[in-house]
Amino acid sequence: MDIYRLTVRPILFSGLKADPEWLHERLMAVLHFFSQADMNGPVGLILAQLERSLVKKDACFAQNLWGINFPNPVGLAAGFDKNGVGATIWGTLGFGFAEMGTVTLHGQPGNPHPRLFRLLADNAVLNRMGFNNEGAAALALCLESAINSQYCPIPLGINLGKSKVTPLEEAAADYLGSFKLLKDYGDYFVVNVSSPNTPGLRSLQDASQLSIILDALQQENRQAKPILVKIAPDLEWEAIASVIDLAKTYELAGIVATNTTIRRDGLATQILPQTNKPITEEAGGISGAPLRDRSTEIIRFIWQQTQGKLPIIGVGGIFTADDAYQKIAAGASLIQVYTGWVYEGPWMIRRILEGLSQKLEAKGFNSISQVVGIEGNNKLD
Ligand SMILES: Cc1cc2nc3c(=O)[nH]c(=O)nc-3n(C[C@H](O)[C@H](O)[C@H](O)COP(=O)(O)O)c2cc1C
Repeated sequence: MDIYRLTVRPILFSGLKADPEWLHERLMAVLHFFSQADMNGPVGLILAQLERSLVKKDACFAQNLWGINFPNPVGLAAGFDKNGVGATIWGTLGFGFAEMGTVTLHGQPGNPHPRLFRLLADNAVLNRMGFNNEGAAALALCLESAINSQYCPIPLGINLGKSKVTPLEEAAADYLGSFKLLKDYGDYFVVNVSSPNTPGLRSLQDASQLSIILDALQQENRQAKPILVKIAPDLEWEAIASVIDLAKTYELAGIVATNTTIRRDGLATQILPQTNKPITEEAGGISGAPLRDRSTEIIRFIWQQTQGKLPIIGVGGIFTADDAYQKIAAGASLIQVYTGWVYEGPWMIRRILEGLSQKLEAKGFNSISQVVGIEGNNKLD
């Protein structure tokens, strides 16, 4: 049990009785302050200390995917740093890569508050943020200065979504507009068509609609940046299979599996204390532990369908080294965390990497890439 889980988390989660979103904004303000500060002053010393404490470097974690060097496979999932304010810092906190966004072409406030809830009994989060972000032009400005001043450099992804004001029929132009503004600033890009919090967005996962978006982006993608699609865990197998087909047709770099779920079964939380309403009546997507097995199963499905040839970023319910190992063994080359990091705190990445390193040693492997997909052919549940 570390200091975060023992003392800091109880104060943040219960003692302060603060709105989770308010706390999130305070953290982002601190990261913004750090990223603006003079590295030769006291902030530089703090970052050096953080790096010593949180970063676990080991050649066994290094992978090259799409020509990009990833120092370790554990990344920050989309949605945490929508405006890129921490872009210079995430590597110092131990992450092997970080995905900025979701960003939309037009800045937008997102859905009405409250819109972010912790489900403590489920080790989960319910969110219906609705892509609150400052827009693609603002993110481009932020990343332009951030990219060369990363304290502990890691690859940065950019997750693109559709602006709420843009009709679904014009989605491709919206994604394309963001991509044009941001294409120089991301190491890879993710087309997010799987958030449950923008009306109709998930219908864009349908092959007929998704193909128009992917075609538009790839025509603009003259630098051949890796473009991935992020899918929902609630898709049927046939729908996932047709996304895989599109991935081949449009030479996608991979699939991010998965976004949050709209399912509510199996939850211990029946009534949301903050609103006093049944959880089944609350809009939004669930992340964290309840999502874990479903996202792993989807990773395994994609691995099987593609014979392991299409890289997968696995995300959903990772809290421990065991969770991480399961996703990688099912076929994920890289993994991402959001909810687990909130629950487990800043040492979680290091703990996961230490656990993975022990597993590699026990199994006689010398690189994490040897684990990718070793259980990919296991039967689907
Ligand atoms: C508060 C919150 C906001 C999120 N916002 C986004 C987003 O803007 N874009 C996106 O692609 N995914 C978003 N996600 C989904 C995460 O990136 C991730 O796919 C999902 O939470 C599962 O991972 P986890 O169980 O580690 O949280 C969000 C998740 C949370 C909890």
